[in-house]
Amino acid sequence: MNGEAGMQASRMGRVVAIASGKGGVGKTWLAITLAQALVECGAGPVLLIDADHGLANVDVQLGIDPRHDLAGVLAGRVPLGEAVLRHAAGFDLLPGRSGSGAVLDAAMLERLAATVAGAARLWPLVLLDLAAGLGTVERRLAAAADTLLILATEEPTSLTDAYAVLKLHRRDRPGGDARLVANGAADAAAGQRIWRSLDRAALGFLGAGVPLAGVVRRDPRVPQAIRHQTPLLTRHPTTPAAEDVARLAQALLASATRRGAA
Ligand SMILES: Nc1ncnc2c1ncn2[C@@H]1O[C@H](COP(=O)(O)OP(=O)(O)O)[C@@H](O)[C@H]1O
Ligand SMILES: [Mg+2]
Repeated sequence: MNGEAGMQASRMGRVVAIASGKGGVGKTWLAITLAQALVECGAGPVLLIDADHGLANVDVQLGIDPRHDLAGVLAGRVPLGEAVLRHAAGFDLLPGRSGSGAVLDAAMLERLAATVAGAARLWPLVLLDLAAGLGTVERRLAAAADTLLILATEEPTSLTDAYAVLKLHRRDRPGGDARLVANGAADAAAGQRIWRSLDRAALGFLGAGVPLAGVVRRDPRVPQAIRHQTPLLTRHPTTPAAEDVARLAQALLASATRRGAA
């Protein structure tokens, strides 16, 4: 894409999906914090969709008890605009429903993908908090996203699982924009090491490396904020992990503008 049409397309409806192979690596926390950071650095309206169908818990981390959720939208009970709420931190949220136990059949999955596409026509930026792993839903949503952020930590299992996600994404979306976020790193150098090992494996076995979207340091204020059910950027805006996510948000926005202008 080029010229004005390209810029428009990249500004309207950019979908960023947040994935990981292994669970418990910080996807939900990052999705919330990144949504707030993007609003704060001027991205415009940001919609966060809790698309973790099995263990939706964005609402729990935020300490809210939403009236409507994604399940209601998919079932046709609630229009999208009515299910979305505006959080005090400035972003919009389409909550998920945890433990419903419902398996998405093919028709529901298509409705979910259509809901995401519809949201991307109304919000300039849509963030998807995905479930861990490589289920049909995650692969479908990751492949449809404009950018896939794959989270990994220093744990070897998290890295091998991140590699598996990347490998499938390359298959599902050849040439797609997947980037690594090294989360919970002891320091910037440790984050770089996480990235280099994945990058080397991707280059060696998949024919192309993987860019580093950013490093987020391990920070005791992250679990503290989650325990208080308050967003980190509200509670501790200058703590290391908050600074790292703010930097990640700026880099994401900058790359969107570059792509649009290219
Ligand atoms: N940068 C970080 N520093 C410290 N703890 C973190 C960091 N990122 C995530 N965590 C911790 O990891 C745990 C899992 O986070 P969560 O967002 O629920 O992961 P996921 O959605 O991938 O399952 C949380 O309890 C959180 O405190
Ligand atoms: Mg989660």
